[in-house]
Amino acid sequence: MMSAQAWAVVCAAGAGERFGGERPKVFAALAGRPLLAESLERLEACGEIEGIVVAAPAGWEEPVILLAEELGCSKVSAVVTGGSTRGGSVRLALAEIPDEAELVLVHDAARPLVSEEIVTRVLEPLGRGWEAVVPALPVADTVKRVEDERVVETIDRGSLVSAQTPQAFRAGVLRAAYGTGHGEATDCAALIEERGGRVCWVEGDPRLHKVTTLDDLALVEVWLETL
Ligand code: C5P
Repeated sequence: MMSAQAWAVVCAAGAGERFGGERPKVFAALAGRPLLAESLERLEACGEIEGIVVAAPAGWEEPVILLAEELGCSKVSAVVTGGSTRGGSVRLALAEIPDEAELVLVHDAARPLVSEEIVTRVLEPLGRGWEAVVPALPVADTVKRVEDERVVETIDRGSLVSAQTPQAFRAGVLRAAYGTGHGEATDCAALIEERGGRVCWVEGDPRLHKVTTLDDLALVEVWLETL
């Protein structure tokens, strides 16, 4: 069964300070193309995605528009200048999504290997009363809380998962969360959790690995070539 259609926000406005280089991280080369090209092309190809709004790094709006044109991404309806935080970028992009949109997907361009399968998987629970859906993976390592040099405690990893994107939302709930909260959480679902909203998680995908360092880029490139 095909889920209802959704609008997608692509967060691509990070400076990528941990990444280095002259360009913003989303313009780093992945298999000869800007990292952002993967997310745009893959979301464009998803039947469930109706339109796309991209939050671009300040000064890089034009290259984002040109990239979308080159890729034939006709679903990209707006490119906004991102904010100084991820939350700020999401808020600015949300303002460009039509009022009639019922479902919104928020995706980090830093996770280039988004697939239609995962988009379908995160949208599905929205049809069963959930307001927000997070793809996540069980934590494989033992997790410890530390204070400076000292290890303070070991946390039971049985109840921990590691959150990814794309995250899916009922549009009204996401808009309300960004309308009131500071929106400075590291993911959107956190704002809905704080408000006591109905948030669920579904199995994520290891290939949604986030590109933070050059090593991550090399890893994702290997996956891309072996897909
Ligand atoms: O910096 P980090 O990798 O955690 O950012 C996650 C995603 O959010 C990236 O795709 C990045 O481009 C985006 N971002 C944004 N606006 C910011 C900071 C990050 O769109 N101000």
